[in-house]
Amino acid sequence: MADPKPLTLCPPANIEFGQKSAPEAPDFGDIYFSTDGGAEETRVIFHQACGLPERWRDLSYFAIGELGFGTGLNFLETVQLWQKHSKTSQRLHYISVEKYPLDKAQLFSALKFWPGDLALKMQLVKNWPGRVKGYHSIDLDTVRLTLIHDDVIAGLSELSGKMDAWFLDGFSPSKNPDMWNPAVMAQLARLSAPGARLGTFTVARSVRDGLAEAGFDVEKKPGFGRKRDRLEATFPGKKHYTKPDIRPVIIGAGIAGASLAHSFIQRGIKPIIIDPNDGTAASGNPSAIVKPRLDLQDRPESRFFLSSYLYALNRYQDLRCVIENTVAHKCLTEKEQSRYQRLLEQQVLPVDHFQTHNQRDFVFPEAVIIDPAMARARSLERVDFIKGSASNFKNGQIFNADGQVLADGSHIFWTCGFGIRALDKFTGLNLRYSRGQLSWIKGALQMTTTYGGYAIPLGGHTLLGATHKRLDEHSPFDPRPEDDLENFEKFENAFGVRPIPADLPARSSVRVTTPSTLPMIFGGGNEWGLTGLGSRGFVFAPLLAEALVAKICGEVLPLSEKVWTRFRAREKAQPESAS
Ligand SMILES: Cc1cc2nc3c(=O)[nH]c(=O)nc-3n(C[C@H](O)[C@H](O)[C@H](O)COP(=O)(O)OP(=O)(O)OC[C@H]3O[C@@H](n4cnc5c(N)ncnc54)[C@H](O)[C@@H]3O)c2cc1C
Ligand SMILES: C[S@@+](CC[C@H](N)C(=O)[O-])C[C@H]1O[C@@H](n2cnc3c(N)ncnc32)[C@H](O)[C@@H]1O
Repeated sequence: MADPKPLTLCPPANIEFGQKSAPEAPDFGDIYFSTDGGAEETRVIFHQACGLPERWRDLSYFAIGELGFGTGLNFLETVQLWQKHSKTSQRLHYISVEKYPLDKAQLFSALKFWPGDLALKMQLVKNWPGRVKGYHSIDLDTVRLTLIHDDVIAGLSELSGKMDAWFLDGFSPSKNPDMWNPAVMAQLARLSAPGARLGTFTVARSVRDGLAEAGFDVEKKPGFGRKRDRLEATFPGKKHYTKPDIRPVIIGAGIAGASLAHSFIQRGIKPIIIDPNDGTAASGNPSAIVKPRLDLQDRPESRFFLSSYLYALNRYQDLRCVIENTVAHKCLTEKEQSRYQRLLEQQVLPVDHFQTHNQRDFVFPEAVIIDPAMARARSLERVDFIKGSASNFKNGQIFNADGQVLADGSHIFWTCGFGIRALDKFTGLNLRYSRGQLSWIKGALQMTTTYGGYAIPLGGHTLLGATHKRLDEHSPFDPRPEDDLENFEKFENAFGVRPIPADLPARSSVRVTTPSTLPMIFGGGNEWGLTGLGSRGFVFAPLLAEALVAKICGEVLPLSEKVWTRFRAREKAQPESAS
């Protein structure tokens, strides 16, 4: 297999705001939308062609795929139409592939051309992922935008799910044939739901033939503005819409379970959650850092690390559980320092997310410190909570170890962190456990800082984390003085200052990890699980939970098929037979 390429930002967009009434793309010799009126163009070329808003009536979920997000004008115009015509029980998923995303400042300038709702524009700008590669989901009430920052063919071929409508908007075929070639058409067919409809501004012969060849019924229609004709196409078949009957039961109210609950509630599905609530959750720490894991190489999981981080930032803002912004990182060795320097030069993240600080150190200005109790409580506000320990699921019933029925449900989700170790049915999963202790010192550090360990100023003191220890015969939940000492030494080594222990209780809990250090989604059918969140559960859980719930509900996945496959459970390798 070829070595992965370096992970960088997407190539920049060359967009010009000249004299015309639409932004121009000099590299393509084309414009982003019609100079005869971008919003009207969207309505005729895309909405009318795809039968919107009429086809939204009575559907619980509708997916639109777009080729070429550009300035977001089609998207915003569609959201505005949706807001006028949808009910709160309905959800719109707008998935758009874009190889040259605008940066935040360009997006801001481009949106001046759209005369619509200012608050909506600002929400898009606020949550904008910049030119970060990969999948990025932004939730705006009942609308989800999933941006796929990649070349059209790579983006489409990793997508999983079915679209009900397509907006083909990739500059004119003569100027940008890559967006219209037969491989793209084949992907559109693969990703179309029965009866999907498609609209585009071009009637180029190659496009008509390509779509017909891929299986669409193609028709010319009167065009918009200076264009005489436009195209409409329909994919054969008729979709039968049925709202999935899902009564989820979630085992464990840590951040994994709470995130799943949030995702179900967003879809109008009320879950039951079971937890003994005995204070042992790894998610029960006084605060948690949400900071990205950075990779030099462009692997599916490296993209996930960034998109889950950006998604988590928006989620925790929405949940109003952010205590503070900005995390600094101290490199303690030359090797680490040069790795961070390379990450910076290679531009794995935009400059507003990752910068140098004092030449030697680095800073993540957008990273956050959250209140985990608040994050979980707000996610669980509308669930039915049952106090107990689940041990089995059979014929739609959840039992405890004594064989008593705790709850009924159609689907069960095991998100019980370290609790999974006590459940015989999961011994085949390849999981590891690592005890971690947090300690307190006197005085508040100026800024949250990571250095192999971490130091978070909190309530006038500083919280130090965290040790990584194997389990032994003692309880992993009992804090140990030697672990406090280890945290103090790490702090002293990083800051050159001897810390003074504070009179506050240390806390010890257990991380669940996998041999690859990647999270794990296990199960299938009506029994699933999410685990292996390691040291970054608060970063990974919101997006992984969204992916799992999207899968159960038959929606388009908010992450690539490659990432999904990477995180699917592998059974423990069988010991090799002695021969
Ligand atoms: C010291 C330390 C510091 C950390 N710092 C950070 C950080 O700063 N940022 C970050 O992103 N991550 C951090 N992590 C990692 C993060 O805490 C975990 O990845 C995350 O909490 C795991 O969440 P979870 O929901 O999978 O499991 P848990 O939080 O452990 O939740 C599992 C829940 O399941 C319940 N349960 C167990 N068994 C059963 C059962 N049989 N039936 C019903 N319920 C059951 C438990 O009571 C518990 O509430 C840290 C971890 C540790 C240990
Ligand atoms: C006409 S513009 C899209 C306008 C957009 N729909 C809007 O509402 O502003 C075409 C878009 O296709 C993108 N694009 C061009 N070639 C691409 C490719 N090979 N893969 C993905 N996107 C591409 C361009 O960067 C540009 O943003």
